[in-house]
Amino acid sequence: MYDPSQLVSYLDMAAADLLGTAGSLTVRRLSDLNGLFEDIDAYNKALSRENSLVYTVREAAFPSDEGDLTCALGKLMPGQIGDEYYFTKGHLHQWREAAEIYLVLSGEGFMLLEDEKSGESRLLPFQRNGLVYVPGHAAHRTINTGDSPLVYLGITPARAGHDYFTDDHKNFLKVVVEVSDKPVLMDREDYHRFYSPLKGH
Ligand code: F6R
Ligand code: MN
Repeated sequence: MYDPSQLVSYLDMAAADLLGTAGSLTVRRLSDLNGLFEDIDAYNKALSRENSLVYTVREAAFPSDEGDLTCALGKLMPGQIGDEYYFTKGHLHQWREAAEIYLVLSGEGFMLLEDEKSGESRLLPFQRNGLVYVPGHAAHRTINTGDSPLVYLGITPARAGHDYFTDDHKNFLKVVVEVSDKPVLMDREDYHRFYSPLKGH
């Protein structure tokens, strides 16, 4: 039987961190998101000013045998590159069938889903106290459209794993951009061809 200390963790909301059974910490800065934002000029300008923190992910260190669950606490900062809001890299699970449940603890934004087979997208509200279900085979990206950090807990099978986009499928097919002070979901192609050039990008 496990020791109780291996089975309990605490949310430190002020630090957006886990205490107790804390595992690895991933820190992603602007430079780690190279090639993902549509507005390359705005990205390069922002990066030349500062390699800003975009998000952190603290994994819990719970048991990780076959059948176990794991969870991670994400903190995604508010910000924009051009019209696009700050987002996470986004991934499929290595074990494609693995679903994920997210609990939103603070902030506001969206979860962008993209089915790996059909390419269909869904934009789900991601707001405090919201529970969001990410089915298997869906690439998922968290987007912060608010002005405070978006803090959330994601729970998956321990063996879910991460599969980040490779060069032949480099990014999501949709973007979430600010239009007249509001977030709008748009085809990446349409945004690239019709929208950003009009703005002189
Ligand atoms: C775990 C999960 C989240 C993300 C986190 C960061 O399966 O979905 O904990 O890992 O939101 O996003 P990525 O991993 O895409 O950089
Ligand atoms: Mn995931």
